[in-house]
Amino acid sequence: MRVLVVGKGGREAALVWKLSKSNRVTELFCAPGNPGTSRFAENVGIDDFDIDGLLGFAIEREIDLVVVGPEKPLSMGIVDIFREKGVTIFGPNAACARLETSKVFAKNFMKRHKIPTANYRVERYYLQALADLEDFDFPLVIKADGLAAGKGVFILDNVEETRLLLGELLLNHSLGEAGSRIVLEEFLIGSELSLFVLADGSNYVELGEARDFKKALDGNFGQNTGGMGAISPVPDYSEEIREEFRERILKPTMEGLISDGLKYTGLLYFGLILTANGLRVLEFNCRFGDPETQAILPRIEFDLAKVLYQCATGSLGIDKLHLSEETSVAVVAASQGYPGEFDTCHAISGLDTVDDNLVFQAGTTFRDSRIVTSGGRVLTVTALDKSPKIAREKAYSTLSRIFYKGITYRTDIGAEFDVNLNLAEREV
Ligand code: AMP
Ligand code: GLY
Repeated sequence: MRVLVVGKGGREAALVWKLSKSNRVTELFCAPGNPGTSRFAENVGIDDFDIDGLLGFAIEREIDLVVVGPEKPLSMGIVDIFREKGVTIFGPNAACARLETSKVFAKNFMKRHKIPTANYRVERYYLQALADLEDFDFPLVIKADGLAAGKGVFILDNVEETRLLLGELLLNHSLGEAGSRIVLEEFLIGSELSLFVLADGSNYVELGEARDFKKALDGNFGQNTGGMGAISPVPDYSEEIREEFRERILKPTMEGLISDGLKYTGLLYFGLILTANGLRVLEFNCRFGDPETQAILPRIEFDLAKVLYQCATGSLGIDKLHLSEETSVAVVAASQGYPGEFDTCHAISGLDTVDDNLVFQAGTTFRDSRIVTSGGRVLTVTALDKSPKIAREKAYSTLSRIFYKGITYRTDIGAEFDVNLNLAEREV
């Protein structure tokens, strides 16, 4: 099977690495990829949003399966376009991708299908939005409707701040079309959890769970980022909560999609929060999460290429996927200053001293035949072990051998295992 992975981040690096392990995969390409993906796949110099370029390549090279990483090409309808040309592609069509690309669509979908989520109101007009603030307490969450490159969710502490932001979004159109409609949303308190589900248009199967650490600094302080690390499995995701997820969220979502005439193929990501009143959906994503993928894929014990192909062709025939019992700890190394301003082009050393199978590069590029930094999140180091504590130690030990100027990472990814070392640890 000839496989093309679209994207260039840590998520795609993990996908490429795992797909390269499949006996079914005879040729593997990544567009555009990064220096890390070039170890396992042939990088192709086509951007992930160049739909025509990607289509031409897929047809010319007779690609059997295209796997789309990022949301952008999905929102642009890459799946619809490729399918029309007879190319087998893993991912949802643009209509289904609205679960991620429009917060308003997602909230209304959840309301229609009685899927537990934060209370909300959709607003288009400044004065109406101000008036509706009465219905909410502070802190309050405001979300831009459209994709805003991770910059569309705001948590507000008082009316003054909120008034200013509403003015920015609804009068000054600071986020353009993406912020022309917004969602006012109740602020929920609890621990977050990401669930991956694979679907083939009518059947679905749970892939696994992870926790993403979104805040920049240890102890969950600082700014929101794209994710500074992930662990899988998640210690507080008990069997009881898993049942609650299946009954109250997963089932109504999948049935809701079908009753709305939406044939969802690909990965559906549930961003959940475990509140005192039960699980609530914070968001849907229509693709693999980053960095959760770097934590979950190393635990996979099945042929990923086969299962993704089954999803893409409507032939998913399994109701359980096997993941290893081991714990995975994935730590993201970023550029100093991220998620704000940061420098790039710093040479990365130490990559050759580690078993870099589980070093997933993201913001890296080749310069004068050296690997240098090129983005905010530079790479993810993942380690696996039966003992969560050892997995954590291994990840940080590997990371300590990698260096570039301004290397920045959280030192507490997976630290919750230290206080949760109950049965899991004693059984080892
Ligand atoms: P979203 O893109 O909707 O998942 O929002 C990004 C992040 O903002 C989430 O992962 C949460 O950490 C936070 N967030 C979003 N909505 C809420 C909410 N209603 N209550 C508390 N935190 C939220
Ligand atoms: N880790 C959150 C996301 O992929 O959107």
